[in-house]
Amino acid sequence: MKGAIRHLGPIGLDRFMAEAVQEYYALSEPFGQAGDFTTAPEISQMFGELLGLWAVDTWHRLGRPAPFLLVELGPGRGTLMADALRAARLDPAFSAALTLHLVETSPRLRAIQAERLSAAEPTFHAAIETLPPGPMILIANEFFDALPIRQFERRSGGWHERLVMLDAEDQFRLGLSPDPAPVAALLGPLVRAAPVGGIAEISAAGRAVAGTIATRLVQEGGAALILDYGPPVSAPGDSLQALRDQRPHPPLIDPGTADLTAHVDFAALAGAAALAGAAIFGPLPQGLFLERLGIAARAARLAQSSPAAAAEVAAALTRLTAADAMGTLFQSLCLTRPGLGPPAGLEACEPTQGAPAATTRSAGNGRPRP
Ligand SMILES: C[S@@+](CC[C@H](N)C(=O)[O-])C[C@H]1O[C@@H](n2cnc3c(N)ncnc32)[C@H](O)[C@@H]1O
Repeated sequence: MKGAIRHLGPIGLDRFMAEAVQEYYALSEPFGQAGDFTTAPEISQMFGELLGLWAVDTWHRLGRPAPFLLVELGPGRGTLMADALRAARLDPAFSAALTLHLVETSPRLRAIQAERLSAAEPTFHAAIETLPPGPMILIANEFFDALPIRQFERRSGGWHERLVMLDAEDQFRLGLSPDPAPVAALLGPLVRAAPVGGIAEISAAGRAVAGTIATRLVQEGGAALILDYGPPVSAPGDSLQALRDQRPHPPLIDPGTADLTAHVDFAALAGAAALAGAAIFGPLPQGLFLERLGIAARAARLAQSSPAAAAEVAAALTRLTAADAMGTLFQSLCLTRPGLGPPAGLEACEPTQGAPAATTRSAGNGRPRP
């Protein structure tokens, strides 16, 4: 990246982030207590199990299409899908009808997923564009937060892009583009109204993926469930953050050695999907969504069947659902083909609802640390 900047000039944060994220997932083992961060399926089997049962229920609502594509974007260690497929065995017809498709760019993680999910014979894809035709049920947990963003700073004359350049010591630093960029029309009202110095974030990649998923759902049928962290209403602020060893790390230092993410702009994803004709349900706080799917009952059952693990199960339940943990920072958003009606857990969510007050984005309040 430094060579490119030296020869061609400053680059957008999106290019910086895309290269850093790809290198990071290609080389690092980031998940769990020994890694850089922990995700919901790595906290407890309950998460993947509930999403597996959600998928079964959705399949019935779709009219039990056979065959159909079960798709996961960014499956990490394959934990979510392994738990989901195990829970879904409750309905053998669902298991018999599915073909598993995993969208993953990291060769290292693909190898782990292939081994863990070998019984389901997954097909790998570098992007959703290569998925074969057919109705699909898609799950994406903490995928969109890894997609690249661009940042813009409000100045008196308009929005100037924040670019990555090199300082006198040959280290990455941020600077502003000399000319304003015509991005105001892409921003939500709260962001557009930000005062001088305010930051706007746009993920063209996130919007494009949401739009592509929605187009497929409209044409081929199905539903997509997106879980990630970010405010339900587009808000101004700098949310780019890096985590290394479970601790905040300066995002521009040693790219590729830390997990680089940004808050997901759920309103922007919903807008891109609605433009493509999909029905939108949510965003709904993750805690409420999991409670509606029955996480408390599942936790009670697990604690009952293994009393030695009761404290661990209770801690996981709190972590996944509590307002001061992942319960409200993370949102669930569902896109479906039009006319399907609300999916399980997302009843009374139409049309897209915002939170009563938008949260200001800021770095460092992303993934909760263990
Ligand atoms: C934060 S991890 C989430 C893993 C898993 N979903 C979980 O909840 O534990 C992000 C995942 O997305 C993958 N990923 C990141 N950028 C991607 C891209 N542009 N295309 C496909 N996969 C990507 C990573 O390799 C990794 O598997």
